[in-house]
Amino acid sequence: MKKILSIALCIAMLLCVTACGEENSPDISEYILETEYKPDFRILQLTDIHLANKDNRQLHYDFLDLTISEADADMIVLCGDNFTFADRAVAKELFAFIDSYGIPWSVTFGNHDEQCYFSVDWLTEYLNEFGSNCLFKDIPNDGVFGYANYAVNLMEDGKAKEQIIIFDSNRYYYGYYQGYDWIKDDQIEWYEKLVKHTKAENGETVPSVCFFHIPIPEFQTAWDEAQAGSSDAILEYGEMNEPCSCPKHNSGLFDKMLELGSTKAVCCGHDHVNNSRILYKGIYLIYGVNSDDRIYYNENMMGGHVVVVHDDNSLSFEHIYHSYEEVQ
Ligand SMILES: [Fe+2]
Repeated sequence: MKKILSIALCIAMLLCVTACGEENSPDISEYILETEYKPDFRILQLTDIHLANKDNRQLHYDFLDLTISEADADMIVLCGDNFTFADRAVAKELFAFIDSYGIPWSVTFGNHDEQCYFSVDWLTEYLNEFGSNCLFKDIPNDGVFGYANYAVNLMEDGKAKEQIIIFDSNRYYYGYYQGYDWIKDDQIEWYEKLVKHTKAENGETVPSVCFFHIPIPEFQTAWDEAQAGSSDAILEYGEMNEPCSCPKHNSGLFDKMLELGSTKAVCCGHDHVNNSRILYKGIYLIYGVNSDDRIYYNENMMGGHVVVVHDDNSLSFEHIYHSYEEVQ
């Protein structure tokens, strides 16, 4: 009888732990999605759309259409701050609009995506189930901080030619300082596992491009060093018209990128009037182009940014600029 009671107790404890959201330990391969590589693969980064209930949203869709139509993209990445004060219907509407182009698309979240009439949990669940052309993956309770850290492999002849890595750069921090949050240690451990797994699967380090919303502190360091004439920091394009509003804590992601040798470019949004591209210690640190006129903007810096992955894995970059005068 005692034995039966013990077994029953164990089963009850197991059920309780599962129901309470016990952490999974997913294999790193579960975070990897795939799409077909095409020659000179074009990734359109749209960022800081900030779509809201009160907007004349058709105007914004018409504006986005100018950039999407020009980009001739093979993939679109929505790079965070996709919404501000939007409800579920607006979120569904934007995703349906992006999906209607028939191009694979991915999403990461910004700090403003929680300032809505839905939770980031809901947004994540909705995108996890979206299907169609959406490439998005969140594994709940996986022990990795944030929502939806995942990768999209660009596949050629059964191998990953290039890896697109999407981090959640998180939202706000209210601890020893108050400001923007950072990419956590366990996310960096996840990144290391991902890069090493992909290398093992393909027999060599696979080059990667990272997309996340809030820039890492090296964006500012690189700008400062470029201004000072350092040979480590080459300003290739654009301007920083406001200081980088990065986290005050540096969790070491950039150093890990240097150590692992996979990541060749980091594309962020967040600072709406910055569009610089700096080659810093061999890695491109890139601000995308603000894709909307909401919150604040520079009227000469609105549209989108394109990363082109060439057949030899070299990268090139294009900027698309448009004005709302074209759609009004
Ligand atoms: Fe923003």
